[in-house]
Amino acid sequence: MRVRDCVLPSRPMPGLLVTLEGIDRSGKTTQSRLLCEALGDVAVAVREPGGTVVGERVRELLKDPAAEIGAEAEALLFAAARAELTARVIRPALEEGRVVVSDRFLDSSLAYQGSARGLGIDEVARINRWATADLMPDLTVLLELDPDAAAGRGGEEDRFEAEGAALQRQVLAGYRELAAAEPARWARIDADRPREQVHADVLRAVREVMAVAGEPAGAA
Ligand code: TMP
Repeated sequence: MRVRDCVLPSRPMPGLLVTLEGIDRSGKTTQSRLLCEALGDVAVAVREPGGTVVGERVRELLKDPAAEIGAEAEALLFAAARAELTARVIRPALEEGRVVVSDRFLDSSLAYQGSARGLGIDEVARINRWATADLMPDLTVLLELDPDAAAGRGGEEDRFEAEGAALQRQVLAGYRELAAAEPARWARIDADRPREQVHADVLRAVREVMAVAGEPAGAA
């Protein structure tokens, strides 16, 4: 299956870019997987940072609790990983008409570095526009979960989670600001529910965007 020319004006290219966003432990990785399974062969799964040789090495560095990294360097490292992933994986897949499902994309940088780290959403958006040659998602799903509920989900902490709930609260506030500024691109979904219910809402939002693009929406 192939998604024909997307009618949205920001990117006159076939294919669709769907991004999943949220604070740490909001369930993005599980929901990305369930979404790709439901969409079938048309889907291409990617994660950020990662998905290329450079991106995976940058990911290790950025997640290492022992690494001291200034906010500006952090933003540039995420943008570098994103530039590689966009040029080498995402754009070629979109040109083939695929639905790219990205576990995080530029809105993570806007919420974490721009908002929570205080670098400024506009500044971080500017370096990312350059890094991705203006590629924007067709749909961004925000999995909304209270930071305390997220922390209660357990697991090993990376460098960002180790900074505690205050950072996660700022990140969530940043995401909500971004979603409010661009409601047509964002679908806000309550992630504090069983994963099947969350998945049903994610899939519905994706199928609505696929219907606008004029194609049947997936295998399931
Ligand atoms: P995750 O893939 O396990 O969610 O880990 C990535 C971590 O990096 C997570 O804490 C969010 C953070 N992050 C940023 O701060 N900025 C970014 O642009 C991206 C992609 C991730």
